[in-house]
Formats: sequence, structure tokens, C-alpha cells
Amino acid sequence: MPVSGRPPELNPPGDSGSGDSATRTEPTRMGVTLLTGATGTLGSALRPRLSAAGHEVRAASRSPPDDGGTAEWVEVDLATGAGLDAALDDVDVVVHAATAPRGDTEAVDVDGTRRLLTAATEEAVENVVYPSIVGIDDIPYSYYEHKLTAERLVADSDVPSTVLRATQFHSFVHDLLGGVARLAAIARDLQRAHPGFPLVGSGYSWLRHLFPQVAAGVVGEGWAGLVGLGRGALAYPGFARDILRNGRMDAGKACITCGKCTTIMRDGGEAGCVVRDAGVYGPIYRRGRRAAEA
Ligand SMILES: NC(=O)c1ccc[n+]([C@@H]2O[C@H](COP(=O)([O-])OP(=O)(O)OC[C@H]3O[C@@H](n4cnc5c(N)ncnc54)[C@H](OP(=O)(O)O)[C@@H]3O)[C@@H](O)[C@H]2O)c1
Ligand SMILES: Cc1cc2nc3c(=O)[nH]c(=O)nc-3n(C[C@H](O)[C@H](O)[C@H](O)COP(=O)(O)O)c2cc1C
Ligand code: SF4
Repeated sequence: MPVSGRPPELNPPGDSGSGDSATRTEPTRMGVTLLTGATGTLGSALRPRLSAAGHEVRAASRSPPDDGGTAEWVEVDLATGAGLDAALDDVDVVVHAATAPRGDTEAVDVDGTRRLLTAATEEAVENVVYPSIVGIDDIPYSYYEHKLTAERLVADSDVPSTVLRATQFHSFVHDLLGGVARLAAIARDLQRAHPGFPLVGSGYSWLRHLFPQVAAGVVGEGWAGLVGLGRGALAYPGFARDILRNGRMDAGKACITCGKCTTIMRDGGEAGCVVRDAGVYGPIYRRGRRAAEA
């Protein structure tokens, strides 16, 4: 779903934008396209495509791309702003694909985006393209909350912008399911080494309301004597009853593995489900966060 800030005024390479070739005297100057996050999943895919489409690409990240490539590369750290002003020199368009989903998201995605927008405004950049994620207003992951804040910064900025939301990339889903598969394989190896031991398979909350099908297969194949839910049971205490009564779980009650109950535990509070029992555990979560960040 595209969400736009101020409308872009982008012309294809060599097009003056007038629509009238008889009045065209000078071709539009093609400035540089700055690609932040150029070494990431999206950036690595975009880099050759932007070059092939005729754009002069300046790739930015903290570490250089492994594959080298033909694009110019500059070192930028959005968390500190180091290298940013030089990276924006002569830039017409910024594709802002830098992000830190597993790092300091606030410093990179929120504060770093704010820094980038300020520098882009000073450089009179024609358009900042900001990739974002479908559903971030509905799912309370703290990464998504920071992405939403960044989207608003982009839309409210003086620099013309385009926010483009995409669904999760296949590689992301593959990695996530790969983690669950690794845990199941570890349980299988341990159970086979110690057949009489009542081993409990773990990590099934990641599979949400579809975990019973996988759990039945794991137990049926003898990969684990039992399967247990950690976060999934906090979110949906009646899950076993629903499986027995209805033959399935209600997707709307399942744990979304946002990790906020674990955060409460680490902050020293009484843990429970911040999403499905928000009235009780929302205030505990926020109190713990405020104390931890003070
Ligand atoms: N992955 C998905 O499923 C998905 C789906 C929809 C939308 N998106 C969006 O697409 C964009 C790109 O995501 P991605 O999955 O490609 O991310 P990624 O693979 O995690 O790549 C992140 C990029 O940001 C750079 N980076 C990290 N910290 C930085 C810092 N402090 N300063 C400068 N650069 C930094 C990284 O390079 P260095 O570490 O070398 O700096 C890397 O190039 C994000 O806006 C994301 O929300 C992703
Ligand atoms: C609030 C909370 C407290 C936990 N405490 C412990 C603990 O003390 N020791 C431990 O080994 N694992 C602990 N865990 C991890 C769980 O045992 C389980 O391995 C983990 O939640 C993965 O399973 P799941 O995907 O079903 O949640 C805790 C998890 C949560 C959410
Ligand atoms: S807070 Fe709720 S939804 Fe989030 S991981 Fe914990 S149990 Fe799951």
C-alpha cells in the first residue's frame, strides 16, 4: 500500500518532464540516487536494479558490500550521523532502506531517519523513498512502532517523500521458520540419544495457531515426548481446551511473539501477555520500560 507525503516530481532518465519534446532544450540533470541500507536484503536487491535503470547510485551503510558491485559506496552511520552530509552531496533521490530490526531500532530507524530527513531537506533532495511494512499500525512489535514513527517523520518532513509498505520478504519468513525447525531438530537428536527421557519441545509459539499440527507431527514421529508453549500459553490460556473442543485454535487469540512479556520479566515485573491482556499487563510493561530507560 503506497502512502505518500508531498507528491514526488520525478522524471525518468532523459525526460525533461515537459511532455513536449519540441520545447526541450536541456535534458534534466540526473543527480545521484543515495541508497541507504545498501548491503541489506532490500538494498542488495535494489542496488543493481537502480544502476540497470540508469541511475547513478551511491550506496551507503556502515560496512562495504561484500560483492563490491559497480556503485560508489560511502560509509554512513545513521545512529551518529557520521558521513551523512557528504553522502547527500549532489543527491536528487534517497531510497532509505537502512534499518536495525535487531539492533538499536530507535537510534537508527527513528533518530537516524530524522537526521537523514534534515540533511535531505538542506540538500533540497527531490524525493525520499521510504520502504515500510504492511500492518505496522496493528502489530505492537517495538520495531514496528519505531517504523510507524519513522513513517510519520517522513510524511511530515519538508522534503517530498514516498512511503511504500511491503509485506514481509520471503527470506524473513524462511529465516523465522528455519529457527523453529532448528529447535525441533535439536529436540529430535536429544530425544533419540535418550529415548526414555520426557523431553519437552519448545519454541512453538512462533507458529501461532498452527502449532498443534506441527506439534502432533513432532510427537507422532518421536522427536519429543511432549510439546510445550511458553508465551503462547500466557497469551491464550484456553488453547488446549479449544483444540480438544473445536479441533483448532482461534488465530485471534494466539500469541504474536512480540516479546513484550519477556521484556517485563527482564525489567523485573510480573510477566503476562501485553497484547491479549493489555488492561493488566500494558501498565506493568510501560512502568518497567520507563524505569529501565530512566
Ligand atoms: N525484511 C523484510 O521482510 C521487510 C519487509 C517489508 C519492508 N521491509 C523494509 O525494508 C527496509 C530494508 O529492510 P531489510 O530487510 O533489507 O534490512 P536489513 O537486511 O536488516 O539491512 C539493513 C541495512 O541497514 C544498514 N544499517 C544498519 N544499521 C545502520 C546504521 N546505524 N547506519 C547506517 N546503516 C545501517 C545495514 O548495513 P550495515 O550493518 O553495514 O550498516 C544494512 O545495509 C526496511 O525499512 C524494512 O523495514 C523489510
Ligand atoms: C515470562 C517468561 C519467563 C521465562 N522464564 C524462563 C526461565 O526462567 N528459564 C528458562 O529456561 N526459560 C524461561 N523462559 C523461556 C521459555 O521457557 C521458553 O523456552 C520460551 O518462551 C520459548 O517458548 P515459546 O516460543 O513457546 O515462548 C521464559 C519465557 C517467558 C516468556
Ligand atoms: S506479550 Fe503476549 S503476544 Fe507478546 S510474546 Fe508475550 S505472550 Fe506473546
